[in-house]
Amino acid sequence: MTEPIEFLWWKHGVIYQIYPRSFRDSSGNGIGDLQGIIEKLDYVAELGVDAIWVSPCYPSPMADFGYDVSDHCDIHPLFGTLQTMDALLQAAHQRDLCVMLDFVPSHTSEQHQWFQESRASRSNPKRDWYTWRDTGPDGGPPNNWLSIFGGPAWEWDAHTRQYYLHTYLKEQPDLNWRNPAVKEAMFSVVRFWLERGVDGFRVDAAHGFMKDPVLRDNPPNRNNAAIGYESMDAYDSQLHVNDRGHPDIHAVYRELRALLDEYSRARPRFTVGEIHIFDWSKWASYYGANLDEIHMPGNFTLVRIPWRASLVRGKVDELEAALPAGAWPNHVLGNHDEHRIASRYGAAAARTAAMLLLTLRGTPTLYYGDEIGMLNVTVPAEKCQDPWPQRSGKPELSRDPQRSPMQWDARPGAGFSGPAVHGDLPEPWLLFHPEYQRLNVATQRDEPGSMLDLYRCLLRLRRETPALTHGEYRALDDAPPAVYGYLREYGGDRLLVLLNFEGESKQVTSVSFDYGEVLLSTTLDRDGAEGLDPMVLRPYEGVIIRV
Ligand code: GLC
Repeated sequence: MTEPIEFLWWKHGVIYQIYPRSFRDSSGNGIGDLQGIIEKLDYVAELGVDAIWVSPCYPSPMADFGYDVSDHCDIHPLFGTLQTMDALLQAAHQRDLCVMLDFVPSHTSEQHQWFQESRASRSNPKRDWYTWRDTGPDGGPPNNWLSIFGGPAWEWDAHTRQYYLHTYLKEQPDLNWRNPAVKEAMFSVVRFWLERGVDGFRVDAAHGFMKDPVLRDNPPNRNNAAIGYESMDAYDSQLHVNDRGHPDIHAVYRELRALLDEYSRARPRFTVGEIHIFDWSKWASYYGANLDEIHMPGNFTLVRIPWRASLVRGKVDELEAALPAGAWPNHVLGNHDEHRIASRYGAAAARTAAMLLLTLRGTPTLYYGDEIGMLNVTVPAEKCQDPWPQRSGKPELSRDPQRSPMQWDARPGAGFSGPAVHGDLPEPWLLFHPEYQRLNVATQRDEPGSMLDLYRCLLRLRRETPALTHGEYRALDDAPPAVYGYLREYGGDRLLVLLNFEGESKQVTSVSFDYGEVLLSTTLDRDGAEGLDPMVLRPYEGVIIRV
């Protein structure tokens, strides 16, 4: 008899990210809401994931679509009420789905009560909750730091005649985490949601909120290598060594972890950090020297590299080598900040990418709609919503394309909006993709071999197969260059994953095994015993073989 193995949701399960504005609009105003998520929970549970992560749904003036929080302990009326959130938690838990919220520690909205007080006068008790400074020696901003969204990271306040710091929009002033009162207030926010039953948090801009204590200038980035965000010329002209990721952040995370651990006695709670650091050892430091900081720093490396077998393998192997002993890996291919997978790699390669994400060692995060192959939507300039392209003057930075409403069915309105307020379908806050009649849940649900079918099969196989959820990972050295091959192994069960990254058939002649049982192919038309010497992979085909 085999021993029962522990299944820890955030480690062995799969996280599904929901952008609440775009998932399902139950009220019929063209914007998704929490009741809409509740209505679609059966779909999410049947898909076979283990947790949902709901992007910010707190009160917010929506300058950055909810990442500008004006009250951390309430729900924006557009999305519902605290009671709707309670109902969502209950409905999710009834279906064995955990719920993660976005925790946005690095900044608030300028409309937040704390900032309103802070900006009221230089002597206000909350003045030091944000970073205020006099003009620099040249009469301009206090230092050379830049906003990720364009321009200087400092905004002049004519009323109190000082600058305040904002790493993102000027409507998103940075909190001063060196002030213990700020830390206490934000930890209370965490407690508030844990008490309500939230299972975990995705920590927004998690390496951003501790900066150089004396706010030294950033040095120039002489070779101008992109540091994480692409095509951000001005921002990439500096090395961001002083405006983020100060080592003092680790003490904060140790405390946050202790808080989470307190609540984990009843059931496991979890944090994953949005960490855009591409130096492996710095990235890995967020696990904590004793694995006592955030449970996982999010790993965005795969999003940033071209779709090539050798590059992807290289990054996965680097990650495996960089992990501290006992630390658990994770992989991301898509989210609300990145273009759609099917648009980046093409529809055929998106199937291979699904198999990659769901068979690598580590927690996968799926982005809503990728399971039906949703594509980037072209949003005309006059309909642009995202502030980033508007503030930076760079249309290519727009994140609207990947935030379009979920495509539920082929009817007009794609099944996104519920009962229309006046009988007519509301205009959705972002355009639907013109191909929604093909790329939608209802159509694909009944179509063998569809993308949705593939995701469900992959998620089912993963759930049933400890080699995939718990197993060791080892890359194969003898696969041809276009093919990424690896083994996943647990308790004597050995699976071989072969992924053809290119649009031509590839003969895999020397994969160390003569014979195996194909469990799943990305084409969903191939299974059973097969000779492996040679094995022919069709264009972009991926296979999982028991050997
Ligand atoms: C994170 C979010 C992004 C947001 C930014 C500012 O990077 O993922 O969507 O714009 O933080 O809060």
